[in-house]
Amino acid sequence: MPIQLLGTGSYTPEKILTNQDLEKMVDTNDEWIVTRTGIRERRIAADDQATSDLALIAAERALESSGVKASELDVILIATCSPDMAFPSTATLVQHRLGAVNAFAMDLSAACSGFIFALETARNLLESGRYGTALVIGAEKMSSLLDWQDRTTCILFGDGAGAAVLRNEEGSKGGLGPCNLGSNGSLSELLLVPAGGSRIPVTAKVLEERSNTISMAGQEVFKHAVLNMTKTAKHLLKEAEWDAKELALVIPHQANQRILEAIRTRVGVEKDNVFVNVDKYGNTSSASIGIALDEAVRQGRLNSGDRVMLLAFGAGFTWGGMLLEWRTPA
Ligand code: COA
Repeated sequence: MPIQLLGTGSYTPEKILTNQDLEKMVDTNDEWIVTRTGIRERRIAADDQATSDLALIAAERALESSGVKASELDVILIATCSPDMAFPSTATLVQHRLGAVNAFAMDLSAACSGFIFALETARNLLESGRYGTALVIGAEKMSSLLDWQDRTTCILFGDGAGAAVLRNEEGSKGGLGPCNLGSNGSLSELLLVPAGGSRIPVTAKVLEERSNTISMAGQEVFKHAVLNMTKTAKHLLKEAEWDAKELALVIPHQANQRILEAIRTRVGVEKDNVFVNVDKYGNTSSASIGIALDEAVRQGRLNSGDRVMLLAFGAGFTWGGMLLEWRTPA
C-alpha cells in the first residue's frame, strides 16, 4: 500500500539571531560557532508566538501545496518537545485553527527524531486502511527551552516548523519506504531538560538555577549521533538493496555540520547529495527535517523516482531513518 507525500510546507520566524548577536550575549564568537557547528544564524519566535502558531503556518502551506482541504484530514500528528502547554496537545490547538473537524489530533515526543517517528506512525495508521489522509508536523520553539547564559547550548538551537501531507494512494508507485527507529533511554542524562515536568516541577530554585532549560554533554551526544545515524543509514541501504551512491538526496536532522560530514563520509554519500541548511536555522529539533524537506522540494531538488533518505538523532536517545522514492505529485 504506497503512502505518498502529497505536499510539504514550512515556516521559520522572521527574527534572525546571528552569531554576531550572540557575541553580545555570551562569551562566544562567530569563528568558534561556525567552525564547531556550521551555524551562522537561527530564527527566534516572537514573544507572542507559541509552537502551535509556527505549526499552523507550516500546516497551511503543506495543505496548500498538496491541494488537500483541512476537512479531508483524518489524522494530525505533531512532533514537538516544546509544546504550547502540558495539555491539551499542540496538535488539538492546530486542528481547531485549521478547521480540520474530521481529524483526530495528538502530539508525539521523540525530541530531534520526532519528525521521522511521526511519519512512521502516520504511515502505519494509513496502511491500516482506517484513515485516508494524515498531516505530520514537526514544530518547535526551542528558544523557550534555552538558558541564554549558557554558551555551550544557546548557540545551537532555533525555532521553526515543517509539515507534510500523506495519503494512501492505491496503485501508485514509490512513496514512503523502509523505516528503522531506535531508542536508548539509558543515556537520557546526556541531553535533557531536567526540570519543569512532574519529576522536578518549577520552583523559585529551579528558575534561579535555570534547570528548566537544556542541559547537554555535547561531545558524548556528538559521538552517539554519528554512531547511530551511520548505523541506521547503512541498515536501511542494506534492507532496500540500494547503494549509497544512488541516493539523490539525504535529508538529515540539522544539528551540526560536523556531524553531517562525519556521517556522509562513513556512509559514502556524495557531498552535493546531503541537504544542509543548519547554517541558516541551527538545530530546530523535530522541525528540522520537515523544514529541510520543504526547502528541498521548493528548490526543485527532488525529481520523480529520486531515492531519498531521511535520518535523525535526538534526546532520549532516539534515532531513526526512512527511505523514500520521491514521486512528484500530479
Ligand atoms: N563559544 C566559545 N567557546 C565555547 C563555546 C562557545 N559557544 N562553547 C564551548 N566553548 C568552549 C568550551 O568551554 C571549551 O573550552 P575549554 O577547552 O577551555 O574547556 C572549548 O570551547 C571546547 O569545548 P568542547 O565542548 O570540547 O567543544 P566541541 O568541539 O565538542 O563542540 C559542541 C561543542 C556542542 C558544538 C559539540 O560537542 C556538538 O555539537 N555536540 C553535539 C550537540 C548536538 O548536536 N546536540 C543536539 C543533538 S540532536
